[in-house]
Amino acid sequence: MVRVLFVCLGNICRSPMAEGIFRHVVGEAGLSADIIVDSAGTHAYHIDEPPDSRAQAVAARHGIDISALRGRQATPADLADFDYILAMDTENLAALRRIAGAHAAKIQLLRRFAPDRGDDEVPDPYFGSTSGFERVYDMLEDAAHGLLADIRSRHLQGH
Ligand code: 4NP
Repeated sequence: MVRVLFVCLGNICRSPMAEGIFRHVVGEAGLSADIIVDSAGTHAYHIDEPPDSRAQAVAARHGIDISALRGRQATPADLADFDYILAMDTENLAALRRIAGAHAAKIQLLRRFAPDRGDDEVPDPYFGSTSGFERVYDMLEDAAHGLLADIRSRHLQGH
């Protein structure tokens, strides 16, 4: 089993979209029994809240329902439990490193898995317009495919 955690600041915009998209991609690949997908925020602002309505709407437009997800805050136990801990931006990365203990090496920027983008950030869309959420969606979808390819090659050979 491979465990994947997406992390942003509030766990109501970027990381729940990433969770929904990646779960969909994993399902299409027939790997739902092999990969656990979750998301969390570095801050406690939105615990138990559903994703932002704009994030839900953009995901729904692409056929992905994230309405049942609820915000939670990343904990030190998450750093131990998950194999891939994927930060959206360098601020998330730094916040995770502060609680990572011996697990700091598991934390990476998600966009390193996007084919052309290198180590770049998924920008916070919270204070912007709907088009920012569409742009974030496209970035997350790109990265989801690269991430799955990485997991297959490292952990799921023969699947
Ligand atoms: P997220 O977006 O980190 O992608 O979930 C944000 C959500 C809430 C806030 C900031 C960013 N906030 O300041 O409450």
